[in-house]
Amino acid sequence: MILGIETSCDETSVALLERDGTVRVNLIASQIERHRPFGGVVPEIASREHLQHLFPLVSRALDETHASWSDVEKIAVTAGPGLIGALLVGVAGAQGLSYALGVPLVAVNHLEGHLFSPYLQRDQPSIPLPDRFLSLVISGGHSSIYDVRGGEVAMLNRTRDDAIGETFDKVAKFIGLPYPGGPQIEKHASSGKIDRKRFPFPMSQFKDHSLDFSYSGIKAEAIRVAREKKIGIDGDPKLLSDFCATLQEALFAQLFDRLDAIWSALRTPMPAEVAVAGGVSANGTLRDKMLAWGRARGVTVRLPEKGYCTDNAAMIAFAGLQRAAGDPRRVTARSRIA
Ligand code: KG4
Ligand code: ZN
Repeated sequence: MILGIETSCDETSVALLERDGTVRVNLIASQIERHRPFGGVVPEIASREHLQHLFPLVSRALDETHASWSDVEKIAVTAGPGLIGALLVGVAGAQGLSYALGVPLVAVNHLEGHLFSPYLQRDQPSIPLPDRFLSLVISGGHSSIYDVRGGEVAMLNRTRDDAIGETFDKVAKFIGLPYPGGPQIEKHASSGKIDRKRFPFPMSQFKDHSLDFSYSGIKAEAIRVAREKKIGIDGDPKLLSDFCATLQEALFAQLFDRLDAIWSALRTPMPAEVAVAGGVSANGTLRDKMLAWGRARGVTVRLPEKGYCTDNAAMIAFAGLQRAAGDPRRVTARSRIA
């Protein structure tokens, strides 16, 4: 089996996967409650929590699968991008285990973990990766569309400012909703009505016709409107839910605007599938919209199972299966990866 370790942000996660991608166990110790009083992730708290939870989780993963150390034939660890102190806990721990067990270590790019996550299945071998697919990675730190061919990843666009998940989180924080904001906005949006007249959130476009994302305009407008109309958890609940529904729709409208433009610019042979990954792919409204987008074009849309949308070690182990292991001494944590 391959052991996966993820400590890049506020979730300590450990997973064991079979060689065929079957997830045997995926354990997550979430720190959300520890960070909630601060309205966001506090790096120092994150590092300490990882240190406390990592090895107990590894032991539990072995126990729950009735596996022993000798069943671990490879280790995959998130090397970046992420919070440097948090990453170091996972990387140092994985290096130690790799030496002690005499097994190879693979450094995994966190984004690549998300990228392949829609192909993971619980208790079953993974879905075969197509030769070519388009991937939207939408999380708290990233908003990008990639063209993935034979394991080679080419970035087609990126956000020039805030990530989509970050926008959910920042606006939610402003109106007094607890962290993380995405699921909270989704909850309030579900009882709201989209009202573009009352909430005219902009569709960001660039003068140079770039297909990059930009979410700072929507964020600024959302905060301005919320301040002006006194929208918040203590205010008018109907106003709050309509605001959330319209904000969510504006954030997704930009995703589809760029996806459509990128898709129509591609030449045949077209990618066989479009995959969506990252924390924001847990959003039910987006999942329905993505499936409808695929049906309208005859394209298979792959969405991660709910447990593999937000940060988890199963996706890190899975990405590790696609990549060759190197010298464990050369694995270094990096907060940014070009
Ligand atoms: O992938 P992830 O766990 O961490 C990063 O790599 O960033 O994504 C976390 C992000 C947060 O911004 C969170 O608000 C967002 O994903 N998120 C959602 C939902 N669930 C999580 N956004 C919208 N709707 C959701 N249901
Ligand atoms: Zn992530």
